[in-house]
Amino acid sequence: MNNKTSQKPVVLITGASAGIGEAIARRFATAGWAIVAVARRPEKLEALAAQLAKTTEVRTLATDVTAEDAPQRAVALAMQEFGRLDCLVNNAGSGSWAPHRDTDDRMMNEVIDTSLKAPFRFAREALGVMKAGSSILCVGSVYGIVGGLNGGIYCAVKAGLIGMTQALAVQYGSAGIRANLVAPGVIKTDMTRDFWDTEGFQRTNQEMTPFNRDGTVEDVANAVHFLASSEGSYINGQTLALDGGWSTTKFLSYDALVAQRVAA
Ligand SMILES: NC(=O)c1ccc[n+]([C@@H]2O[C@H](COP(=O)([O-])OP(=O)(O)OC[C@H]3O[C@@H](n4cnc5c(N)ncnc54)[C@H](OP(=O)(O)O)[C@@H]3O)[C@@H](O)[C@H]2O)c1
Repeated sequence: MNNKTSQKPVVLITGASAGIGEAIARRFATAGWAIVAVARRPEKLEALAAQLAKTTEVRTLATDVTAEDAPQRAVALAMQEFGRLDCLVNNAGSGSWAPHRDTDDRMMNEVIDTSLKAPFRFAREALGVMKAGSSILCVGSVYGIVGGLNGGIYCAVKAGLIGMTQALAVQYGSAGIRANLVAPGVIKTDMTRDFWDTEGFQRTNQEMTPFNRDGTVEDVANAVHFLASSEGSYINGQTLALDGGWSTTKFLSYDALVAQRVAA
């Protein structure tokens, strides 16, 4: 047990061992934060800690975020090791989706437990120790802003996270604790890798994005860090879409436009 209070700000990141969460850990490490990294696979967490060890103090907790004691253990680890918690990043989420009629109760509960109840419980625990200047970030999705084919319960929980973020902002903003949400478009990670080269995926995403490249995990990590940093200190209760303009436009690539005209 370390009773000292860290000079560095401290961030607790769920789902920190891969994909977007791992990039968020790297971004905060670059900015000089200490990190509490949470995910299920211990070997992935240990690999991350080893990679960052030269510059960054990393503590890891291998647990399922849906475990009853996960929020309490994670926040207790931050307080025992660093004596403070400046930012919670609720990033871990389920990648299960199916059309509404094909979503059985098992899938529905798994997605709600992982992607909505766990962030709610982690935020509740973090608020018990956070001080003015702290913030809570959620990783939502553009599919919490607009409907997605096969969105099923995934769209519902990502929209729910926006509601939770706004409620946190109004409830705790006056205490100096902010809450914001980033809503990525499609980003190449283990969650989406299988779809990336399919025609439907490219049509729905790449051909409808008015930008000349795909989004990256670093795009998401940079935005999360900005919102948590002092540079974002007047931003509260916001949803920031990170999708190259996908969710706010009716863009079609030239090839898709031509194909549409020929078909018509
Ligand atoms: N990739 C995209 O296109 C995209 C777009 C919009 C939003 N998002 C959101 O971004 C977040 C991260 O997604 P990603 O694409 O980075 O996924 P990913 O590459 O599959 O990584 C998921 C991370 O979360 C951890 N995790 C998953 N379930 C967990 C659980 N029950 N308990 C503890 N840790 C868990 C995983 O580690 P373990 O398996 O070891 O637990 C891993 O570290 C999710 O909330 C997702 O909905 C992703």
